[in-house]
Amino acid sequence: MLIEEAFKARTMAYAPYSKYMVGAALIVPSGKIYTGCNVENASYGLSNCAERTAVFKAVSEGQRHIDAIAIVGGTLETLDSTVIGKEEEYAYPCGACRQVLSEFLPESGDMAVIVARSVTDYKVLKLSELLTYSFRL
Ligand code: THU
Repeated sequence: MLIEEAFKARTMAYAPYSKYMVGAALIVPSGKIYTGCNVENASYGLSNCAERTAVFKAVSEGQRHIDAIAIVGGTLETLDSTVIGKEEEYAYPCGACRQVLSEFLPESGDMAVIVARSVTDYKVLKLSELLTYSFRL
């Protein structure tokens, strides 16, 4: 279900510069789902990743814990499809997004990060394996 939501969010991606469209969907303990897409800017460095869009939407609505996040990314050609071809790598979250996600761990202590090319072609990873020694204050 999270992967399906990530695919839907991906159709909203605003990526006229890279033409790489990303969608993310995360679930919080209540079961509520928040989605996001990448939002690029003519001043490239101001672009925001799909994962952070989803996190900021959730946190700005009061959420503080994320159980799992699904991420789907691929080039523009695959935008109307719910399958990303095998020639494209899974869309692993970038380092900045890993650090941002690490701020909102669930009570269980670890977050599931699902990278998907379709609802049947996916990998379930743990944030703890994607990010070690995260920055903490
Ligand atoms: N992007 C994401 O949305 N998530 C990531 O984890 C990495 C990259 C976006 C940013 C930019 O709009 C496009 O993918 C190409 O880098």
